[in-house]
Amino acid sequence: MYGWMKTNIAVLGAQWGDEGKGKIVDMLTPHFSAVARYQGGHNAGHTVYVNGKKFVLHLIPSGILHAGVTCLIGNGVVIDPQALFAEVEELARGGITVDGRLKISEKAHIILPYHRELDVLSEARRGERKIGTTSRGIGPAYEDKIGRRGIRVCDLLGDRTALADEVRENVSARNRMIIDSTLDWKPVFDQVVAFGERMRPWVDDVSLSLHTMMAEGKTVMFEGAQATLLDIDHGTYPFVTSSNASVGGVCTGLGVPPRAIGGVLGVAKAYTTRVGEGPLPTELSGALADRLRETGQEYGASTGRPRRCGWYDAVVVRYSARVNGLDAIALTKLDVLDGLPEVLICTGYKTTGTGMMTDFPADLRVLIGAEPVYERMPGWSSPTKGVTEFDRLPAEAQRYVKRLEDVSGVDCAIISTGSDRRETIIKKGSAVEQWLA
Ligand code: IMP
Repeated sequence: MYGWMKTNIAVLGAQWGDEGKGKIVDMLTPHFSAVARYQGGHNAGHTVYVNGKKFVLHLIPSGILHAGVTCLIGNGVVIDPQALFAEVEELARGGITVDGRLKISEKAHIILPYHRELDVLSEARRGERKIGTTSRGIGPAYEDKIGRRGIRVCDLLGDRTALADEVRENVSARNRMIIDSTLDWKPVFDQVVAFGERMRPWVDDVSLSLHTMMAEGKTVMFEGAQATLLDIDHGTYPFVTSSNASVGGVCTGLGVPPRAIGGVLGVAKAYTTRVGEGPLPTELSGALADRLRETGQEYGASTGRPRRCGWYDAVVVRYSARVNGLDAIALTKLDVLDGLPEVLICTGYKTTGTGMMTDFPADLRVLIGAEPVYERMPGWSSPTKGVTEFDRLPAEAQRYVKRLEDVSGVDCAIISTGSDRRETIIKKGSAVEQWLA
């Protein structure tokens, strides 16, 4: 389609996740030497088809499906070894071997067998204030990391006496959390030792490998999971995931300096969705929500949960643009809006007390009772589905995209008009074109 990337770029979610990053990453991968995941765990997920074969990947970057591309999992990721092995096996069944192309940071933390149980327990204890997690043990693994009792990949491969002490301490912390629980540390120790042995061929100094590749002039795509509004620091706390999904996570989660990031591409849907609990100011209900959910197939890739659906929220995307320094947006699923008589864009919130608000608030209580302020635009009756040139979009769809750019403050360099790789518009003269040699 085009040439080689001139620069390393970060591709990350600009809303609440599930923006369709999988397709964008998959489409751009052939232009990079490597793809590097910097945060999250197997709470993420996307389905990719190669030669009619279906692959569901949660942890390993989908770049693995492209021959010759190196895939790195950074120290900022939490790894469930069993989930990792299941993916490696699925890939092997599909004729894809990861050896020599998969590199896992020795500093990444391990999701221990009981973290999942702690995740479920913690949700039950929160009752009505539950987060609606993916129950994958992500939060408890990051809690142990920050609590300085986590077990890292390198710990599994090092001194066994030291590892035994670490596992004993971690298990006893777990036992203190669960009433009347006396889990024995030894079977956990035996299990993680076996995990380490199986992971050994892939373990790597990921920061060093990235620096070496970049020094050789190879380009890297930094792949985010989840999204900015689910970021532990910048998202709708506490209804967030436990890692830095926004651009700062690239540096801390991979051990690369800020200047390694040559561009930032935010992925945003032409409307908004979210799974799990927490505020969604533009949320719709009834027939319109069902229409978006069914047409857009809005069901979680990891958990199958129906996604909550709403109109495009420019307050959210503007906020993401600021936090991440977005150079461009990849606008996805425009075709899902085909045939709607009217499309709405939220440009601000009317709140009691503070009046009109155009910047995303930190305190979620401010959002309670906030009323989205909408601009209404005519919809389009002829389809955008499969259109590959901006000028060929129906005039109303062109106006809608241009208005999204104005109110979000970022150019839509890529517009996705269907799930197939080919159903894509790359805007002429956009940042994405400039990043390409
Ligand atoms: P956790 O990451 O499993 O702890 O879940 C925390 C929140 O992030 C919940 O609201 C999840 O639904 C949400 N979440 C986690 N991973 C994803 C994802 O890949 N897409 C969308 N939402 C996610």
